[in-house]
Amino acid sequence: GTPARTSTEVVNLTIDGQPCQVPAGTSVMHAAAQAGINIPKLCATDSLEAFGSCRLCLVQIEGRRGYPASCTTPVEEGMVILTETPKLHDLRRNVMELYISDHPLDCLTCPANGNCELQDMAGVVGLRNVRYGFDGANHLNDAPDESNPYFTYDPSKCIVCSRCVRACDDIQGTFALTVDGMGFNSRIAAGQNDSFLGSDCVSCGACVQACPTSSLMEKTVIMMGQAEHAAITTCAYCGVGCAFKAE
Ligand code: FES
Repeated sequence: GTPARTSTEVVNLTIDGQPCQVPAGTSVMHAAAQAGINIPKLCATDSLEAFGSCRLCLVQIEGRRGYPASCTTPVEEGMVILTETPKLHDLRRNVMELYISDHPLDCLTCPANGNCELQDMAGVVGLRNVRYGFDGANHLNDAPDESNPYFTYDPSKCIVCSRCVRACDDIQGTFALTVDGMGFNSRIAAGQNDSFLGSDCVSCGACVQACPTSSLMEKTVIMMGQAEHAAITTCAYCGVGCAFKAE
């Protein structure tokens, strides 16, 4: 989780050549943000406790092996951190490629188009192509859970970042949601019978707010987002080239 800020001690470090001073216990991601450096991220938010699952926020730390997740790594005195290197760019592109390989390629008709962090991050990391995957078909046969009167959960659009689970736990204190399954089969489950209506959900909407895609989405937004007409065109957000062809 996010390192607790337990002291007023100040830590000196360098991020991308910039000297920074932050309170002990600050995460590398938050320290970078204070220096005006936005490290790409999907599973971390400003308010939820960090979880370290998406691996998009990897950085390099001098003297350390590997590429730690900046959202779960606390700063240390004298750290020298790089957030932008060719290797990091490659790793982040590979992470995004995996996400997109497991995601429907319907950006242009998706109600979250233009307001989707997955789409944004694909653009930020410069994703150009997707070499493998499900061609947008994973979970497409899983029926969306439409049991809640206000919002739906669509497993095909879910990237299992667990932001909804943490929002339900941390903000609402309800613990209605869990992550179910492993790898490409994983998804969010509500309650014992996997139904939002039959779970402890109190319809507070914290999960919908926390969702970076349109997996959890208000029903009114979904209805407004359905275009009547569309032309053949290509999504401009990243280089994958998801296209939509009108009937
Ligand atoms: Fe750090 Fe997801 S943002 S691992």
